[in-house]
Amino acid sequence: MDVRRNTKSTMKSDVNAVATSNTQILSSLKPPLHVVVGGGTSGIGRGIALAYRKHCPDAHVTIIGRNQSAADEILSQLGPNGNFIRADLSLMSEIRRITKEINAVDVLILSQGILNFTGRTPTTENIDDKAAVAYYGRVLFVKELLPLLRSSSHGGKVLFVMNSKRGNVSKIKWNDMALEKNYSLMAAFNHGMAYTDLVIQYLASQSENANVSFIHAYPGGVRTPIGNGLPFYLRLPAKVWSALGGGVSPEECAEFMIHGILGTKTGWRCIDEKGETVPNKEVSDEEMLKKVWEHTCEITSRTAQL
Ligand SMILES: NC(=O)c1ccc[n+]([C@@H]2O[C@H](COP(=O)([O-])OP(=O)(O)OC[C@H]3O[C@@H](n4cnc5c(N)ncnc54)[C@H](OP(=O)(O)O)[C@@H]3O)[C@@H](O)[C@H]2O)c1
Repeated sequence: MDVRRNTKSTMKSDVNAVATSNTQILSSLKPPLHVVVGGGTSGIGRGIALAYRKHCPDAHVTIIGRNQSAADEILSQLGPNGNFIRADLSLMSEIRRITKEINAVDVLILSQGILNFTGRTPTTENIDDKAAVAYYGRVLFVKELLPLLRSSSHGGKVLFVMNSKRGNVSKIKWNDMALEKNYSLMAAFNHGMAYTDLVIQYLASQSENANVSFIHAYPGGVRTPIGNGLPFYLRLPAKVWSALGGGVSPEECAEFMIHGILGTKTGWRCIDEKGETVPNKEVSDEEMLKKVWEHTCEITSRTAQL
């Protein structure tokens, strides 16, 4: 039996089923959604932006990133309700600036990220660039847009696309939370994933956020250019995997992510690559949540070092 072909055809029918359900729900939404996508110029973010446009043709979709030509190509598909905000999302000052340009948001997608194996690389605000884009800047984005999300008539939804399956809270380095003394890539990856698990719980625990749901997703293996910055000996296996049909396309991933968003009614939730709940996720204690929140607020309040 060809197991790979079988798995592929099961995946296709799963995608078709969730896409049909996504259309049914989204096409009838009134008023149309305002969707904001950090990292919307490529890969998973691009896929989600275009999927919202497809399911809900009147949706207002704003994509954010740095690549103008990639944005132009996506804008041509988004039509008159599409918008691009150009910004470097590794800088907290930029995030504060551009969030002031946003007037409405029902769905906030945070898919901005970079993949490289260089050590700690501080931005001008003295935050490691990978963590700044994939964690601190994302949380600041949410913080700045919370008033709009709280007033969404559909109930605000926030999706962090990272890895909801692998964060290990017991391995957080509590005495060096920004990893400024002892940096390692493993610790940096773990902090990003575990902090995201904790920060969604903190945000959902605040009574003023009762109208907003916070979701952390593992998108699975998705065929995107995220590995292009890696050295060739690491890029090669990814290219072979992709050529052999490994993973899913950004379009397929987008349907599962939207399915996960639509299936989250209140509070917080970790979802997997099919948009279903990650089982056995530990609920963390209040003190831990507060510690991560206060640390995140301290780091995101940084301004450029002269
Ligand atoms: N692909 C996978 O298999 C996979 C698996 C697990 C988790 N993830 C996670 O999913 C997220 C999205 O990954 P992807 O595969 O879709 O990656 P991608 O195709 O490389 O897209 C990354 C996006 O982030 C934006 N970005 C990066 N640095 C930025 C900066 N300084 N300022 C503004 N925008 C910035 C890029 O925009 P510009 O180029 O326009 O700046 C781009 O839109 C990442 O956090 C990744 O770690 C991906």
